[in-house]
Amino acid sequence: MRRVDVVIRERLASRVALIEQISHYIVNAGGKRIRPRLVLLFSEALGFEGPERYELAAIVEFIHTATLLHDDVVDESALRRGRATANAMFGNAASVLVGDFLYSRAFQMMVAVKSLRVLDVLADATNVIAEGEVLQLMNMHDPDLAVEDYLQVIRFKTAKLFEASARLGAVLAGADPAMEERCADFGRSLGTAFQLVDDLLDYEGNSDELGKNVGDDLREGKPTLPLLVAMERAEPAERDLIRHAIEQGEVQGLPQILAIVRRTGALAATRAAAQGEAERARLALELLPPSRARSALLDLCLRSVNRSS
Ligand code: IPE
Ligand code: IPE
Ligand code: MG
Ligand code: MG
Repeated sequence: MRRVDVVIRERLASRVALIEQISHYIVNAGGKRIRPRLVLLFSEALGFEGPERYELAAIVEFIHTATLLHDDVVDESALRRGRATANAMFGNAASVLVGDFLYSRAFQMMVAVKSLRVLDVLADATNVIAEGEVLQLMNMHDPDLAVEDYLQVIRFKTAKLFEASARLGAVLAGADPAMEERCADFGRSLGTAFQLVDDLLDYEGNSDELGKNVGDDLREGKPTLPLLVAMERAEPAERDLIRHAIEQGEVQGLPQILAIVRRTGALAATRAAAQGEAERARLALELLPPSRARSALLDLCLRSVNRSS
C-alpha cells in the first residue's frame, strides 16, 4: 500500500495549480483505501506480483476519489474524511471539474497498462457507477421505493467498483474465467455489505469516528434500507412521519425517526442484511488457495460489517 501511495502522489501531478491543491486536499485526508487493497490482495492470492498491480490499485482509488468529489456536490455534504468537503472549501464547480480530472487521469493510467481487458472492466465500472448515482437521484424523495430497487442502486453505485477491483486482481494474475467470476462475486457482495453498513451508520454512527456527518441521508430524503424496513414495521402514524420526512427531506425529525428505526429493529435488519452479504463474500473465497492474502480478505469481510468508521 506504500507503493500505491507513491503512485497516487506521482499521478496527481498537473500543470494547473488548483487541480493539485484540491486533489491533494482530499487525498491527504486519507481514506480506508479498501478498493486498492482488493486489487493487491486478489493479485497476490492468485500469484501475481508484477508492478502493474500498484498502478491498477491507484487507478481504482482515483476513480473512487472522483466519485466522492462528485457525490459530495450532489449530496450537498459538508464533511468528508474528517475535513470540510472539497465542495465546501473550494466550491461545487471546482469539485466537479477536479473529479473529471481524476476520472480522465485514471483512464490515461489504464491506457499505459496496455490491456484492453483492464480497460473493458474499468470503462464498464465507471459507467455503471454513474448509472447508480443517477438512479438514486431518480429515487430521491420516494417513500414507496421497493427494497429491490434500493439494492440495485447500491450494487451499481458502490458494489460495482468493489467488483471491478477484485476482478482486476484476477485479470492481472491471468486467472481462468470461473476463478475471475468468484473474485467478482466476492467484490460485489462485499461492496453491497459495505454500502448497507454505510447507510446504517448514517443513522447510528458517530460523526467524529466516521469523518462524515450522520443524518445526511434523511436530510436529503434518501430512502435507504433502515427507513424502508421501519416503514414496513411501524404503526400508521409513525409510518406517515417517515413518509413525510422522505418526501420533504428534513433534519428536525431525526431524533424521533431514529427512535422508530431503532425500536422497529430496522437497524438490526440492515446489519443482518449486511452480514448476509458478507457471508456470501466469505463463501466466494473458498475457491482460493489458502494464503496470507486470503486471510486478509476474510478479515475485510468481518471488518466491513463491524466497522464504525
Ligand atoms: C465512501 O467510501 C463511499 C461509499 C461507498 C459509502 P469509503 O468509506 O470507502 O470512503 P473512504 O475512501 O474510506 O473515505
Ligand atoms: C456512496 O453513497 C457514493 C458513491 C459510491 C459514489 P453515499 O452518498 O452514501 O456515500 P457517502 O455516505 O456520501 O460517503
Ligand atoms: Mg454521499
Ligand atoms: Mg452514505
